[in-house]
Amino acid sequence: MNMNVEETINKYKDKLGQNDFGFLNRVYQTNSKVYLNRLKNIGFENYNSVLDAGCGYGQWSISLSKLNSHVLATDISSSRVIIADDIAKSQNIKNIDYKQSDLTNIPLKDNSVDAVFSFGVIFLVNIKDALLEFHRVLNKGGRVYFNTNGLGWALNLWHNEPNKTDDYIPRETVVKSFKNTLLIENGNKKENGQQVSDKKDIIQLIENIGFKLIECDGDGLINITNNNNEIKPFFQKEYFGFEGVTEYLIEKI
Ligand SMILES: C[S@@+](CC[C@H](N)C(=O)[O-])C[C@H]1O[C@@H](n2cnc3c(N)ncnc32)[C@H](O)[C@@H]1O
Repeated sequence: MNMNVEETINKYKDKLGQNDFGFLNRVYQTNSKVYLNRLKNIGFENYNSVLDAGCGYGQWSISLSKLNSHVLATDISSSRVIIADDIAKSQNIKNIDYKQSDLTNIPLKDNSVDAVFSFGVIFLVNIKDALLEFHRVLNKGGRVYFNTNGLGWALNLWHNEPNKTDDYIPRETVVKSFKNTLLIENGNKKENGQQVSDKKDIIQLIENIGFKLIECDGDGLINITNNNNEIKPFFQKEYFGFEGVTEYLIEKI
């Protein structure tokens, strides 16, 4: 990890919970080449403007800023946005604007951004509302990258309990995910929180909203450029024979 980034991160050690600080450390311990190569493989470079929707601590935003002219990075968590901004400033990066905002109410005009990148976020809100909002802010022909969690992802959390800490119990996330999924399926628009979804339902939704599917595959596996960049999936395509994490590349028609 870059020295400036490490120093900046360590300032927040006593201010964040165990799980949150572990997450912040993990995402910056991953070599930035991993993020850069994955972005190149999905063609997220040479855009004038890209939105990183639900940017978290901003590691993807930084890689997006190296490949594109301007990045708007948003997250519902004001503390994440502040920390992400601090980390980018420690690296003297000047082409990212960080703003606190909800995924379903993005501070952008209609048809005003070239591409939307949203990693690990859309399943925390009403997915339809988020996709409608991405459709609103995107220019015609603009692309969205996002990913969803399937049943196999939930089984993995239950069985292997990855990243368990005193303040993060993966099994609780599984129980809440199933409850949220059911509530949203039954039309409870207000319900937010982790959900599980099925690839075929997401593809149907994408088409209903006015996007076309370019490609979908397991996490990290889409490569529209056919280059030989080394890639690192963070999650498996399947766990225990069921859908794990699926990524989608879609385009506004
Ligand atoms: C698993 S993290 C992923 C963060 C980042 N994209 C990454 O890959 O590290 C999910 C993020 O979604 C944000 N989030 C949750 N609900 C949101 C909402 N309604 N609008 C915007 N961001 C939201 C959280 O604050 C968190 O930073």
